[in-house]
Amino acid sequence: MKLNVNGKLREVDAGEHTTLLSVLRHQLDLTGAKPGCGEGACGSCTVLVAGKPVRSCITLASTIGNKPVITIEGLARNGRLHKVQQAFLDGGAFQCGYCTPGMILEAVALLEERPSPTDGDVRRGMDGHICRCGTYPRIVDAVLVAAKGGRRG
Ligand code: FES
Ligand code: FES
Repeated sequence: MKLNVNGKLREVDAGEHTTLLSVLRHQLDLTGAKPGCGEGACGSCTVLVAGKPVRSCITLASTIGNKPVITIEGLARNGRLHKVQQAFLDGGAFQCGYCTPGMILEAVALLEERPSPTDGDVRRGMDGHICRCGTYPRIVDAVLVAAKGGRRG
């Protein structure tokens, strides 16, 4: 089957039970989406499907059809990081970085829906993403900075 990933049609070999996460990592070499809990509970495998955050560990590749998939590798444009990526970088919103791709893609979708979120909106929107390093305050801060257009002050 073909999947539209990061703006390109890619041929993949996916059976009935093959997850999107497995296809991305093992067939397309897109390792930004991270395997964590494997049961939809931690968010580390989050990618965007038709602009919505999806937990790729519990999403079958066969259900994607022609909907566009965006992974962290496909977020930058013309060599420029997305404003959420830049805000995470500027704000040091990660330690090991394992949760970061999923957090960033969730935040991108959140800001699409709610361009001027409150602190509470961000906390609620990012709820369900686990950061094992506990960088939550910086993550929330980075999303709020991105919402204001980028770099602080
Ligand atoms: S690995 Fe997919 S939600 Fe945890
Ligand atoms: S930065 Fe390590 S899990 Fe979030």
